[in-house]
Amino acid sequence: MPDRQNGARRNTTEGDITAEVIERFGDTPDPRLREIMLGLIKHLHAFVKEVQLTEAEWFQAIEILTEAGKMCSDKRQEFILFSDTLGVSMVVDLLDHRKPEGATESTVFGPFHRLGAPEMPAGGNIAHRDQTGTPTLVSGRVLDLDGKPIAGAVLDVWQAQTNGLYDSQDKVPDGLHMRGKFRSDAEGRYLIRTVLPVNYPIPSDGPVGRMLKATGRHPWRPAHIHFVVSAEGYEPVTTHIFDRTDPYLQSDAVFAVKDSLVCDFVRHEAPETEASRLGIGGPYCTAQFDFHLTPAVEAKATVMDAQQRLAALGARA
Ligand code: BEZ
Ligand code: FE
Repeated sequence: MPDRQNGARRNTTEGDITAEVIERFGDTPDPRLREIMLGLIKHLHAFVKEVQLTEAEWFQAIEILTEAGKMCSDKRQEFILFSDTLGVSMVVDLLDHRKPEGATESTVFGPFHRLGAPEMPAGGNIAHRDQTGTPTLVSGRVLDLDGKPIAGAVLDVWQAQTNGLYDSQDKVPDGLHMRGKFRSDAEGRYLIRTVLPVNYPIPSDGPVGRMLKATGRHPWRPAHIHFVVSAEGYEPVTTHIFDRTDPYLQSDAVFAVKDSLVCDFVRHEAPETEASRLGIGGPYCTAQFDFHLTPAVEAKATVMDAQQRLAALGARA
């Protein structure tokens, strides 16, 4: 764009500045990047004007983002926590994973998935170091939208320990725990041994925790187990199953509860056949959940791709 004539007035109002910034980004060659940048500027400028942001407040925001960045590592992701607690992750999830009737709904990925969970046989115990939780068997089938079994689907599972922490949050890290990859059998069946999931607070010793406190919000998540279920020719689904009895189902700190993902964890006082076969001696719980996958229409970048890049960044920090 040619420079303005000498003496021409420029950027005298907020509207002038916004218009000029939009114009400068107008030649972005990639059309999708142009759309995203123009939308971002329009809304960011409108937000600043709407709340009449002061310079001190803007610098406070920059300090908060700087602190968030410094906290991030391969074990801690403060920006995912911001995205989740602001509800942005769930809006993106809703827009990007519109599913046909009957398909398993998705929900947030969260910051605690780790690459490299061990492959386990049916009935394998992901909670082998957890001595205090109630043994729990989670079973069900992986099916297509017509109810036909999907054999060989991979269920990547992770869960917080009974102390409310993920393995990566433990003070003395001792390798992977509460994680495993299971495969569905010829009838689409899977079986996971774990412990009853507990509710737990998301990490609140950083800027996200201060934001929750300052805005009168609690940090608790209802008890859940995480899954990414994938199979050749189908769209992978990132989701959780939630315990129906949890008091935080209505106020999840990250807005991730969907009715279709709430499930019954049934208590049994004495082991029945399958539990005995797996060596469970006392009271235990069972939960049943079927996953319904949709056929893949196009190859899409997944959250795991992003996670690999984030892990590489964290490892370099
Ligand atoms: C989780 O469930 O692991 C989680 C999800 C979002 C934010 C923090 C934790
Ligand atoms: Fe979780």
